[in-house]
Amino acid sequence: MRIFLTGATGFIGSYLVPELLKAGHQVVGLSRSEASAEKLARAGAEAFAGDVNDLDRLRAGATMSDAVIHAAFNHDFARVRQHSEEDRRVVEALGEALGGSDRPLIVTSGTGLVERRPGADCVTETDARASLETAPRAATEEAADAAFAKGARVIVMRLPQVHDTRHQGRIAHHIRLAREKGYVAYIGDGVNRLPAVHALDAVRLFRLALEHGRAGGRYHAVAEEGVPMRDIAEVIGAGLNIPVESITPEAAPGYFGVLARLARLDLAASSALTRQELGWAPTRPDLLTDLRRMEWALK
Ligand SMILES: NC(=O)c1ccc[n+]([C@@H]2O[C@H](COP(=O)([O-])OP(=O)(O)OC[C@H]3O[C@@H](n4cnc5c(N)ncnc54)[C@H](OP(=O)(O)O)[C@@H]3O)[C@@H](O)[C@H]2O)c1
Repeated sequence: MRIFLTGATGFIGSYLVPELLKAGHQVVGLSRSEASAEKLARAGAEAFAGDVNDLDRLRAGATMSDAVIHAAFNHDFARVRQHSEEDRRVVEALGEALGGSDRPLIVTSGTGLVERRPGADCVTETDARASLETAPRAATEEAADAAFAKGARVIVMRLPQVHDTRHQGRIAHHIRLAREKGYVAYIGDGVNRLPAVHALDAVRLFRLALEHGRAGGRYHAVAEEGVPMRDIAEVIGAGLNIPVESITPEAAPGYFGVLARLARLDLAASSALTRQELGWAPTRPDLLTDLRRMEWALK
């Protein structure tokens, strides 16, 4: 398949490109700079110049492809609402371009953007997206649902914390704060959990979903249902050689700032249905192993 990939030069995109090429697909990556275009060429992909918010350009890229994987996002958390609404328009445009065809559109979302059922231990693939009030980024899945209802072959890929030994997304902020404050904090007893997956396992699931996924399917790329925040804090403390302390929920905003709400949440997520349907079985190192192997001096 000829696959149009947005976010091709990002953390996940950089793993996706070789995964797709290795499986015999052609990759056309959206690139908004000369440097990104060069990076794609080195990886063996074709570059398609454009900004993700240039919707005409985006439709053009989608129209000339057999499938689209949308993994671009602007992660400036101070403007998450604005960027989420931009992402809504991106998904709408891609849905329009592919609507009425059999060509799949994979939209990337997050397991943290899902509403947990009352009394449930974790979120599952059948749980609905969160409300826009609690999670503005739920706009992405809202747009995916609307595009599916209009006839596009949409598949939603929900990611937990994706990691390798260099990147751990949100945990990078915990590490930065720990350096600034001189200690690593977790809230209360620290049993609230973060689900995780190694980047290589995550991109294998993208490929399986692309090749075998069901229209309207929602898949969870979850290798570990939930790693306790206290365990993560302890590995950070050991890596930086600084103390690890429990703080109260009231003290959390003082330490975590804008991340305080997130730092308290138990975000455990299951992938039982995904594994069953797509035969996916993660094999790569777990989150704490990757964190221990990290080059702490560089962080
Ligand atoms: N990483 C995780 O743990 C995680 C967890 C849950 C969900 N997700 C979701 O997974 C997706 C991929 O995440 P990631 O970690 O790979 O993100 P990332 O490393 O921040 O990469 C973002 C990508 O989006 C591109 N991009 C941003 N704004 C753009 C614009 N205006 N025009 C064109 N391209 C633009 C970037 O291009 P440049 O290279 O040019 O900057 C980059 O390729 C996102 O939707 C993210 O929210 C990730």
